[in-house]
Amino acid sequence: MSLVTLGEVLAAARREGRGVGAFNVIQVEHAEALVAAAEETGLPVVLQISENAVRYHGALAPIALATKAVAVASFATCVLHLDHAEDEELVDEAVALGFTSVMFDGSRLDDATNRETTRAVVGRCHDAGVSVEAELGEIGGKDGVHAPGVRTDPSDAAAFAAETGVDALAVAVGSSHAMTSRTATLDLELVARIRDLVSVPLVLHGSSGVPDDTLVSAVRAGMTKVNIATHLNAAFTRAVRDHLEANPSVVDTRRYLGAGRSAVQAEAARLLRLLAG
Ligand code: G3H
Ligand code: ZN
Repeated sequence: MSLVTLGEVLAAARREGRGVGAFNVIQVEHAEALVAAAEETGLPVVLQISENAVRYHGALAPIALATKAVAVASFATCVLHLDHAEDEELVDEAVALGFTSVMFDGSRLDDATNRETTRAVVGRCHDAGVSVEAELGEIGGKDGVHAPGVRTDPSDAAAFAAETGVDALAVAVGSSHAMTSRTATLDLELVARIRDLVSVPLVLHGSSGVPDDTLVSAVRAGMTKVNIATHLNAAFTRAVRDHLEANPSVVDTRRYLGAGRSAVQAEAARLLRLLAG
């Protein structure tokens, strides 16, 4: 199946009150596992590659084209999304490579520059038929420090979405990136107030730290795209570690990476079902 845009997938989900899982691809095994989970559940999935992952690989094209090939060969509905891009040139490269969505993360810029740059990115991406997600109110933890304190103001979010023309908006409501314990509490009342004022679907970042029941409540309150990375990496690593401990003489990388891939598929499928309700 060909890739679809984020705007398309999120509009349908928001209409039906469903959440959509957005999971990060680092190795090709992630892409294979996530697409298999989407096939298994019959639910759409957002395959996202972050600027950090690009830095790890040293280039966007190899992991992006591999992920795209896995998605296109599948019957699942997939969005190929660039995650947390702060570099505009990387956004343009992603568009040229066939991504159907990008997140331009200008949350570290001053407010006026974030608005102006996001609007310009939206103009270029929409001309190419690509959706754009932006972030307002920096969501903590990107540098590995748990920082759930920031909050997005609802009327500011509405003005930002209208001024920039984005297709989805990441808002700060209490989650924080890279948590390894699922102990975050969200301001669900704030989610509902933002949802009532903002016309585009909302995105919850740093969802690894959010327990299952709060994820469900967040979707009910108005979140549509739910980003989960660390939690799936923990499942991958646990399975690899268990395999290596149980099979100390193993040398074939497919044995333990295959165990990691299976673990990610199982947990991603469970999460896709949970978020879809
Ligand atoms: O953009 C990606 C996410 O917000 C993932 O955050 O690793 O805390 O789940 P996480
Ligand atoms: Zn994020």
